[in-house]
Order: sequence, then structure tokens, then C-alpha cells
Amino acid sequence: MSRLFAAIYDPFMRRAEQAGLAQWRAELLEGAAGDVLEIGAGTGANLPFYPPSIRRLQLTEPDPDMLARLRRRMNVARVPDVQAALSAVDALPFDDATFDTVVSTLVLCSVPDVARALAEVGRVLRPGGRLLFLEHVAAEGRPARLAWQRRIEPFWKHVSGNCHLTRRTGESIRTAGFVVERETRESVRSALPIVRPSIRGVARVGT
Ligand SMILES: C[S@@+](CC[C@H](N)C(=O)[O-])C[C@H]1O[C@@H](n2cnc3c(N)ncnc32)[C@H](O)[C@@H]1O
Repeated sequence: MSRLFAAIYDPFMRRAEQAGLAQWRAELLEGAAGDVLEIGAGTGANLPFYPPSIRRLQLTEPDPDMLARLRRRMNVARVPDVQAALSAVDALPFDDATFDTVVSTLVLCSVPDVARALAEVGRVLRPGGRLLFLEHVAAEGRPARLAWQRRIEPFWKHVSGNCHLTRRTGESIRTAGFVVERETRESVRSALPIVRPSIRGVARVGT
């Protein structure tokens, strides 16, 4: 299943990327600075958008099939120092306060424990460091769509690498003690309706 998911991920996302998701990635990653960690980097959709000015880019990805694709694509990054490691966010192999920026795009929907993942992100960020996030979320304010998300979620998790449809990730980021500096809620164009509701923005690690 993992190999199939890795193989179909880019074709499955292509229409949404072309319809605006890639543009959102580019805008979000303009805020990446210093030593940067990306969690759940997948097949490397963010790689072309990292500013060349960042000091170091450490990619992490727990799925060996995704990681193999990521490694093949690393040469598109305009950053001189890029490395990739097999790792889940749940237990990151880095010391406390190692990074200035952590990037999470379409990852917190899939982790087993969001609070634990965000605690790890907070641990490896330096004081004042930032989390750049872009996540699909529960359809708050759209009861009919939320009902569909709830109905489909048990099956969807099964076929999409534990991807949850009804997480309130913005709330989780705040509950984890981050200060959200900017958050945009918008529909992902040309995506399946159940994964359209999204948030993206910047959160500073609490002190
Ligand atoms: C929908 S894909 C997103 C990939 C990429 N971040 C992007 O924006 O296209 C979800 C990714 O989260 C990863 N993932 C799942 N569980 C994870 C965990 N516990 N820690 C870190 N990454 C995880 C998956 O392996 C997969 O690469």
C-alpha cells in the first residue's frame, strides 16, 4: 500500500497543485529562514520553493517509498545544503532548539498523535522559531460537508496513509502553545471536496 500511495501521490495531486496549491507552497516557503526542518516531506513537492538564502534544509520522511522519491528529487532545491533522513515527527532525531523554521504541509492530518507531533516540533525549534503550516482540515461552518468527511474518514484513513479528514489542526496548534501570527482559511481548488477545507500560515513557538 505504501509503495502504491507513493507512486500515485504526485499524479493524484497534480490538478490541485496547478490550480493554486503550488502557489500557496511558494508563498508560504518565502518565510523559511535559517536552519529549516521539513517533516513528512513526501515526494518533495516543496523542494523548488525554498529560498536559496536558507542556511540548511533537513528533510524528514517516515515512509521508505516516499523517501526514495524525495531523494531522487532533491537536486531541484536551490539550497546548497540539503539532507534527507528516515524519521517520523513523533520522535525526531534532533537535539532541542536545533532549527529556526519547521515546515509541515499536509502532514498533521496523518500523524498518529497531533499533540505529540507538535510537542516535538516545539522542542526542536529555537526560541522565537516558526512553524510554517499548510493543512487540510475539518469543514467547520459547512455541516453537510463535515458530515461527509465523518462518513468517509474511516475508509479514507485506510487507503490514504492514516489521513484524517476532520482534524481541527488550527486549534491543535494553539493548544500546543504556539502563537499563530497568520492564518488563512481557504478551499483547495480542484481537490476532492472532502479535502478542500484548508488552513495555512505561520505560528511562533511559545516561550
Ligand atoms: C499527504 S502526504 C504530504 C506530503 C508532503 N508533505 C506534501 O506536502 O506533499 C503525507 C505525508 O505525511 C507523512 N507522514 C505520515 N505519518 C507521519 C509521521 N508520523 N511523521 C511524519 N510524517 C508522517 C507521510 O509519509 C506522507 O509523506
